[in-house]
Parts: sequence; C-alpha cells; structure tokens
Amino acid sequence: MKVADPQFDYLCGLLRRRTGVCIDQSKQYLVVARLMPIVRQRKIPSLETLIDRLRQGLDPSLEKDVLCAMMTHETSFFRDRAPFESLRAVLTDIVQRRAKERQLTIWSAACASGQEPFSIAMVLLEHFRDVLATWRVRIIATDFSEQILARAREGVYSELETDRGLSPALLQKYFRPLQGRFSIVQECRQLVEFRFMNLNGTWPLMPLADVVFLRNVMLYFDVATRSALVARVRRVLRPDGVLFLGSAETMIGIDDGWNRVSQGGCSYYKPKPRR
Ligand SMILES: C[S@@+](CC[C@H](N)C(=O)[O-])C[C@H]1O[C@@H](n2cnc3c(N)ncnc32)[C@H](O)[C@@H]1O
Repeated sequence: MKVADPQFDYLCGLLRRRTGVCIDQSKQYLVVARLMPIVRQRKIPSLETLIDRLRQGLDPSLEKDVLCAMMTHETSFFRDRAPFESLRAVLTDIVQRRAKERQLTIWSAACASGQEPFSIAMVLLEHFRDVLATWRVRIIATDFSEQILARAREGVYSELETDRGLSPALLQKYFRPLQGRFSIVQECRQLVEFRFMNLNGTWPLMPLADVVFLRNVMLYFDVATRSALVARVRRVLRPDGVLFLGSAETMIGIDDGWNRVSQGGCSYYKPKPRR
C-alpha cells in the first residue's frame, strides 16, 4: 500500500511545519502503519481521504492525532547509561555553584513515556538526597504528544520496559508491583512535572534551566530546525548550564556557540561565553 504523492507531500509539509519532524518517501511504510489505525478508528474511507480532511483544516483533533501518531517514542531508563553517570558529576559541580540560591531546574525536553525524567529523578534520589530535602528542585518534562504524556504521568511500566536499563536494585527501590506491571514510587513521581510543549512552537514560560536533556529528538529535524532549536535552548539555559544531546546527535554543523565536554564515555555541551 502506498499513499499517493500529492497527499504524501502534503502530510510531510504539515508534519514539518507543525513539529519540525521531517520524513521522506522512504517512510511510506511508516505513514501507512501509523495512520491506518486512525483511518479505521474514525471510519474514514481511505488514507488519502484522511489526508484530504487534514488539508481542509476543519478538524483540529484529527490533525493532533495524526501528528502524534507520526512521532517515535522509543526510550528506555538510563538510556545509553553514560549520560546519567556524567549527570551525577555535572550536578555535583552545579550544586556547589548554586549553594546560595538553593534552586535547581532540570528540563527533559521530549521526554516520551517518562523513562528519561524518572531516571534523572533516580540519580537525584540516589546521590543528592540532602539537596532534595532543602532546595527547590524541579524536573520539568515536556513532550508534544498528549497521549505519551498521559502514559508518563501514569508512571506504570511493563516488565519489558523496566528490564531495559534498570538494575534489580533500582527496580526494587523505586517501583512497586501493580497488576503485573511496575508503578513508580511517589517520592520519585513527585519530583517530575509533566507538561505539553511543542519544541517547534510557542514555548510556555519556563524557569531558566541548569541542565537540559534534549536527547534523541533533533535527529528527526532538519539542520535549520536543529539550529533554531538549540539557539532557543541556549536562551532558557543558565550561562553555566549543561546540555545533553543523544549519543547519535551532535552540534557539528548546527551551532558553533557551544563547547563540547567529554566525560566518562559521553559528551555534553556548555554554551560558549558571549563576546
Ligand atoms: C525518540 S523519543 C526520545 C525520548 C527521550 N528523550 C530519550 O532520549 O529516550 C522522541 C520524543 O520527541 C517527541 N517530539 C517530537 N517532536 C517534538 C516536538 N516538536 N516537540 C516536542 N516533542 C517532540 C516525540 O513525541 C517523542 O516522544
């Protein structure tokens, strides 16, 4: 099955304009696989008809469903491990520098089903309990997809999901069995604020962040969108803050206003001081 070119091109343009996500003809199979459930659920005669309805622009909920269906939510606890080990060192340093103001903000942009911000929360609970006890610590976790945010807020994971990245010790400490799945404990859950946010749209007012995780989302964007995004991230990051990208993502060719710091098998970025 193949979507006709005019409809396919319209869908690509819409997805790119609204979210920054770029797809091309090689993703025909993905469009069919992701959108046919919506066609069936809404009893629309065909995939082309669905895209024609999007073009008419009369059904915002259809557009939202389609855009969300086209997103990839692949994630895991402590994904790639090394960034979370670096995070401990990064936070040790930042905590010293913030000793007077006693506030810490970490932003997990594009948090998918929550494994990333909850991993950050576990790093804090494991190594910074004294800070958590007396400082204002916020982990703000955002995503475009309301459905995936609902899953993240639920904080309940299958065995398959907890097997990916969690040690038995962390599983036992921070999760409780719940009807064959695992529910994250309150002390971890309460550290994370989940919010809707389109990285390619208008941003809500955000506190300046000390650390930003912008991992495994820029790879879906083109170079111009990546450049514009990291420039915006720079404006919400403290001047001495730290940005983590995904292991397959880089600033090369995107923005030369960042210093790359290599540490313990991973690298992160610090904004170069402004001249
Ligand atoms: C592959 S997941 C990455 C999850 C996590 N950061 C990680 O590294 O494991 C990508 C996430 O980016 C979100 N996303 C894609 N485009 C977005 C946009 N324009 N604004 C906000 N989130 C977006 C998707 O909904 C998806 O949950």
